[in-house]
Amino acid sequence: MLKLSKLEVVYHHVSTAIQGISFEVKEGNLFAIIGANGAGKTTTLRAISGFLGIDNAKITDGEIKFQGEKIGSLPPHKITRKGIVLVPERNKIFETLSTQENLVIFGGRTLSSKESVDRIYEYFPPLYERKDSLSGFLSGGERQMLAMGQALLCSPKLLLIDELSMGLAPLVINTLVKSLLQMKKDFGLTILVVEQNAVVALNIADYAAVMESGRIVFDGSPEKLLSHEDVREFYLGIRDDKEKTYRDVKQYRRSRRWWG
Ligand SMILES: Nc1ncnc2c1ncn2[C@@H]1O[C@H](COP(=O)(O)OP(=O)(O)OP(=O)(O)O)[C@@H](O)[C@H]1O
Ligand SMILES: [Mg+2]
Repeated sequence: MLKLSKLEVVYHHVSTAIQGISFEVKEGNLFAIIGANGAGKTTTLRAISGFLGIDNAKITDGEIKFQGEKIGSLPPHKITRKGIVLVPERNKIFETLSTQENLVIFGGRTLSSKESVDRIYEYFPPLYERKDSLSGFLSGGERQMLAMGQALLCSPKLLLIDELSMGLAPLVINTLVKSLLQMKKDFGLTILVVEQNAVVALNIADYAAVMESGRIVFDGSPEKLLSHEDVREFYLGIRDDKEKTYRDVKQYRRSRRWWG
């Protein structure tokens, strides 16, 4: 459904953030990209959704195809109309409007029916409780639910999510993940999610990739990534080598003695 080939993105004509990445997202799949701060996850999503210009960035090489059609040079509104919808990082909602108004703005423009807004409340019941509250007063989890609800009202075929779980408590993440997977099933959505939280990402993905310094360094099924030593050590914090752990602990104790 989505294919990136040797994509390169440069900020301000000088700084290369994406260094020739290629990957493919299959229809109906949830593809997850994990990576540390500054790896290039957000930039990748901005490139796909057409929002590079706002940050003075440009695609300098490679291409992006959606359902066989090149979309790399299209403006954001045309990309959204094709069915690619972005839930941005630290989601941007209209804080001075109520929850309901935030949804109606999107629903009114695209599906223009009360049922579609009510459907959002079925996926995210906590939003119904807060439907008349100013959205500026919503909790982090509720804001993420609202942003995902808004995205759903734009009738996405491909949903791009920038950091689903950032700053949220495990219980809230669970609720969000459940709703997301239900939405995926009900609407046949294809989803590309980028995450720093590898545990969440690898639990929900059909396929996953690891991004470092603007490159995809490793990809495969979640099982394959979960059994990869570097992924386990750097993204899940699991050390398999007991000898190494023992050496590290001894070194740590020695340094503690040194520092008194
Ligand atoms: N507006 C910008 N102007 C210049 N450079 C930028 C801009 N936004 C991002 N970058 C640079 O591009 C690179 C990739 O950043 P990006 O935000 O895509 O990473 P990320 O993986 O989303 O990180 P995080 O996990 O912190 O959100 C970084 O080196 C960053 O400094
Ligand atoms: Mg980011």
